[in-house]
Amino acid sequence: MRCASAADCQFKPPFHFAGEIVQTSSTDLGYTLALAAQAAPTADNSQPLRFAWNGRTFVIAYHAAQGVKTLFGPSGHATLLAVGAALENVAATLEIWHLPYRIEAIDLEQGKPYFHIHVEASPSGHFQPNLSDFNQRHTNRFPYLQAPIPSEVVKEISGLREGSSRLLVLTEKPRRHALAKLFRQASEARFLTRELHEWLVSSLRFEDGNAQEGLDAATLHLPPGGRLFMRSIRDWRRMAFLNHFGAYKLMAMVDSRLCQGAPALVCILGSQGHLEIVEAGRLMERAWVALNAAGLAVHPYYSLNDQLNRLALGTVPKAMVAQVSRIGLELPTLLDLSEGEILHMMFRVGFPTRHCMRSRRLPLEQAYTASKETLW
Ligand SMILES: Cc1cc2nc3c(=O)[nH]c(=O)nc-3n(C[C@H](O)[C@H](O)[C@H](O)COP(=O)(O)O)c2cc1C
Repeated sequence: MRCASAADCQFKPPFHFAGEIVQTSSTDLGYTLALAAQAAPTADNSQPLRFAWNGRTFVIAYHAAQGVKTLFGPSGHATLLAVGAALENVAATLEIWHLPYRIEAIDLEQGKPYFHIHVEASPSGHFQPNLSDFNQRHTNRFPYLQAPIPSEVVKEISGLREGSSRLLVLTEKPRRHALAKLFRQASEARFLTRELHEWLVSSLRFEDGNAQEGLDAATLHLPPGGRLFMRSIRDWRRMAFLNHFGAYKLMAMVDSRLCQGAPALVCILGSQGHLEIVEAGRLMERAWVALNAAGLAVHPYYSLNDQLNRLALGTVPKAMVAQVSRIGLELPTLLDLSEGEILHMMFRVGFPTRHCMRSRRLPLEQAYTASKETLW
């Protein structure tokens, strides 16, 4: 369904719609760019972004996730990484079409909108939604083969840069194991955090391959009985009770087990400002697309950097502050971080043992509009 009038659009503030609707067809450039932007990953598939096009300018804006509890907000680290990933896909699409463009940052605090991407040539002709590599990018949470990742791929990935962001590929066992251990410790803190538990529970979808937003249980690698267990701990009070008996340690062990055995861990590193987080998101997407295109599977893990961000914000559970502080002291040495550099994201990478589906997205009509007027 397309919007027949502004009133029909499902966009709600802060997505301000103010213009006449242009009839789009699937070969419009705006439509193609919106498909590319929507293919980018978001934390727990929460899809907190909206897109617009007025014939010359493409817009990326914030929109509080619909069915998923809001956790990160418009300037949250995870949201800005997702903004970077969407921006990367839009830029990559314009480059495929050899269309010159200029990226203008507008409002990285509230995302009303985050970016204008001005296309500096008359876009004419038919722009088929393309089947290029970023449409194949996906999350694979299943076990991987032990086979090492090819050295050419390590070399290619290690050389990628965006602004101050860079990639570190860990293939040597001692460093991989040391990082996986820090991840497990961060994951313990994560399972003791009520806010994170409630976000995960609100994201989970058990419709098996049909959920248009949120985390589809079909994409998760759950142990036998895992679904039942996840359903049974929906209420935080039950989780909190089980945590007295060490449930958080058990869940962290399950969460980190595959990380420990992965042939490679890839870290996205960079500076801390809003724009720098967006740059890290662009690099994250570029690396993820390249790894998937090389036939490798990717599983992102966010808990390690998230707990360190939370430590700075004072939102780590009291019982875990000492443990997360220790992680904060050990990580810079382990990753050879320079002054001011942080970990933005960690990937587990390897050859897949099974292929899996990419999570579904909201109908594009809910995420994108076209207008002859400037939208913001
Ligand atoms: C900022 C960010 C954090 C993420 N953190 C995790 C994570 O900790 N664990 C995980 O399994 N997936 C994580 N993901 C992957 C998303 O859940 C996934 O991209 C989303 O569900 C869409 O699925 P797709 O990648 O198959 O398109 C993260 C993605 C982003 C952008």
